Amino acid sequence: MNTKRIRKAVFPVAGLGTRFLPATRAIPKEMLTVVDRPVIQHVVDEARAAGIEHFVFITGRNKHVIEDHFDRQFELEATLRGRGKEKELAILDADTPAAGATSFTRQQVPLGLGHAVWCARDIIGDEPFALLLPDMLHLGAKPCLAEMMEAYNQKGGNHIGVYPVAEDETNQYGIVDISGSKEKVAPIARMVEKPAKGTAPSNLAISGRYILQPAIFDLLAKQERGAGGEIQLTDSMVTLAKSEPFYSVRFDGKVYDTGSKLGFLAANVAYGLANKDLAGDFRAIIDAHLG
Ligand code: G1P
Repeated sequence: MNTKRIRKAVFPVAGLGTRFLPATRAIPKEMLTVVDRPVIQHVVDEARAAGIEHFVFITGRNKHVIEDHFDRQFELEATLRGRGKEKELAILDADTPAAGATSFTRQQVPLGLGHAVWCARDIIGDEPFALLLPDMLHLGAKPCLAEMMEAYNQKGGNHIGVYPVAEDETNQYGIVDISGSKEKVAPIARMVEKPAKGTAPSNLAISGRYILQPAIFDLLAKQERGAGGEIQLTDSMVTLAKSEPFYSVRFDGKVYDTGSKLGFLAANVAYGLANKDLAGDFRAIIDAHLG
């Protein structure tokens, strides 16, 4: 069984954010804040909590502010230090990846998620890796990727985070079939990307968290187009599943699709209520608005 340690995580952040115009005219959608930190940082925090040591960002034009966000800021740190702002310094310190622990490469043309992941092939090399789609925030008792790491350490192979969605939303996601299993970790019998309405094999959607073996890169290299004319990651996973085990790991918390306006608003409410410093006052504000 191959349980080589997962050290690196890939974050595809090249998307244009058209669903969020005009907010995203000059700011990447990944930098919109949910409570006190940008969406991308919530996801990097999740990866770090799962033991990830190297953070690989697949960026695009106008995304340089993401690179700046994960850099040390000498002037800011010096100013905070001069003013004795130890708490703020500690927050910055905890959130900044170590020197050399980030990589940035560009997806030059938006050809789909499969193509974005393929852009990471040289940086990842011949080792299994994690993949986290930043739009999708997972809030639960335990971070999603940490649960997936536990499953991976027991079983090896490839793992996909899943969660139940409404039947009429299955056409918006990758859907997995686990043959009716009720287990949290279950072998995947079938996967399909954005099935046409009424044809989904289940209501378990791919939640945007993956642990993948490097053999995926050889399949992605074929650059075959799938749903929506895009190079789909799910299609290469379907092929890889013929020769390697794939497991689904059900996430029992809540998943927020911050790529939609309602999902983004819902995430701010949920993360605000989950923040111990804000929850009490925030709840009173919400109640007053609903009252
Ligand atoms: C991608 C994946 C899909 C997954 C979804 C989660 O689709 O292809 O399988 O369910 O992310 O957000 P996209 O949202 O990029 O169309």
